[in-house]
Amino acid sequence: MGKTATLGTESSNHQFPVVTGSVGPDVIDIRKLYAETGMFTYDPGFTSTASCESALTYIDGDEGVLLHRGYPIGQLAEQSSFMEVSYLLLNGELPSKDELAQFETTITRHTMLHEQLATFYRGFRRDGHPMAIMCGVVGALSAFYHDSTDISDPLHRKISSHRLIAKMPTIAAMAYKYSVGQPFVYPDNSLSYTGNFLRMTFGVPAEPYVVNPVVEKALDRIFILHADHEQNASTSTVRLAGSSGANPFACIAAGIACLWGPAHGGANEAALNMLHEIGTPDRIPHFIERAKDKNDPFRLMGFGHRVYKNYDPRATVMQQTVREVFDALKVNDPVFEVALQLEEMALNDPYFIEKKLFPNVDFYSGVILSAIGFPTTMFTVLFALARTVGWVAQWNEMISDPGQIGRAHV
Ligand code: SDX
Repeated sequence: MGKTATLGTESSNHQFPVVTGSVGPDVIDIRKLYAETGMFTYDPGFTSTASCESALTYIDGDEGVLLHRGYPIGQLAEQSSFMEVSYLLLNGELPSKDELAQFETTITRHTMLHEQLATFYRGFRRDGHPMAIMCGVVGALSAFYHDSTDISDPLHRKISSHRLIAKMPTIAAMAYKYSVGQPFVYPDNSLSYTGNFLRMTFGVPAEPYVVNPVVEKALDRIFILHADHEQNASTSTVRLAGSSGANPFACIAAGIACLWGPAHGGANEAALNMLHEIGTPDRIPHFIERAKDKNDPFRLMGFGHRVYKNYDPRATVMQQTVREVFDALKVNDPVFEVALQLEEMALNDPYFIEKKLFPNVDFYSGVILSAIGFPTTMFTVLFALARTVGWVAQWNEMISDPGQIGRAHV
C-alpha cells in the first residue's frame, strides 16, 4: 500500500491514501471520508483543497513560480507567441514550425462570427458594460454552432475549442465598436491573431489601419500572461459547469461571468481607477493607510493573491512591458510613476510585508492597456479573451477524464 494519512475521530482512526504529484505538495484523497466517518471537510474558500488533477499549470506561490506544461512564464513571455502558448496548453508541447502554421491557419479561419450575431449586439444599450455583452454573446454561440456541442465527440470538442479561441477577439472588438458607435470591422486573415484584434478594435472602414509591431508584441505578451492560472475562481467555474455536461460555449460564458468580479479579473479595471483616484504620489500614504484600516473596505487593487505570497512573476513581466510601450508610444502618463511609487511604499510597509501582499498580474496591466488606447471597461474583456484558451484547455482536460458532477455539501 502506498503512503497514507491517518485521521483520528473520537471513536476511531481512519486511513486515507496520500497521492504525490509530479510537482507540488502531496494530497490526501478524502473521497471516502464521509462514507467512512459520516463527517465532511469544511473549506469554503478551497484554501486547502485540490479540486482536480491537472497537467496544465503549476504555481509555487512562495517562490513566485508559474509553469505552463513545465515551461516558466518568463521564458514563454520572452520567447513564444500567444498562439504558441495556446497550442502548448491545448496539446501538451510547444508546436513545431509546421504544427504552428497549421494551428494558426485553423484559428484564423474561424475568426468570423455568424452574421446574425451582429444583430445580437443591437439589443444591448450602447453604454452597457462590454463584459455584460461578452457574457451574453458567448453564451449565445451554442445557438449558432449546433454542430459542435456533442461533448462526447472529440472532434466536436476540438472544433468548439478552436471556434471559442478564434472568435473571442472578434466578439471583444465588436463589443468595443458597439460602445463607441463605430461600425464593426471584419477579421483580416493576413494579420496575426493579436494584430487582427488590434485592427478590428481600432481600425475604421474609412482608412487603412497599420498595426504597430511594438504594441502588437506587447499585447500578445499580455495575452500570454493571462492565458491560464491553475484552478482560479473562473477556471473552477468553467470546470464545475462542464461537470454537468453543459456545452463548451455555456461553460466559457460562466467563466466570463465569474472573472468579472473586482476581486478576480475585474481588478485590472479597479486598479487603474484606483491609481487615477490617487492621482499624485503625495496622496499614496493616505491610500495605504486606508488599505490597512480594517474598518475601511478599501483594498489596494492589483495587490495580494490567494496563492502568490511572493512577487507574481506575471507582474514582473508586465512592469517591463510598460516601459517598452511607453517608450515606443512616447507616453508620458504620470499614472505609471504613481504605480511605481505605490509599489515601493507598499513593499516597504510592515502590514504588506507581514501579510505577504505583492503586486499581482492586474497591478500594471491597466497602465499598459490604457496607453494602447483601451478604455478601462475593456480591460477585463481582454483578460477574458486571453483566459479563454486556459478555460478551454482546462475544460478539455476535465471532459476527457470525466468524473462526477461537482456538488458540495453544507
Ligand atoms: C486575479 O486565483 C487566481 O489565480 C486569480 C488570478 C488569475 O490569473 O486567475 O491570479 C487573477 O484574480 C488576481 C487577483 C486580483 N484581485 C485583486 O487585486 C483585488 C485585491 N486583492 C484582494 O482582494 C485579495 O488579495 C485577493 C482576493 C486577491 C486574495 O485574497 P485572499 O487570498 O482570500 O486573502 P484574504 O482576502 O484573506 O487577505 C489576507 C489578508 C486580509 O487581512 P486579515 O483579514 O488577515 O487581517 O490580507 C489582506 C486582507 O484584508 N489583504 C489586503 C489586500 N489583499 C489582502 N489588504 C489590503 N489590500 C489588499 N489588496
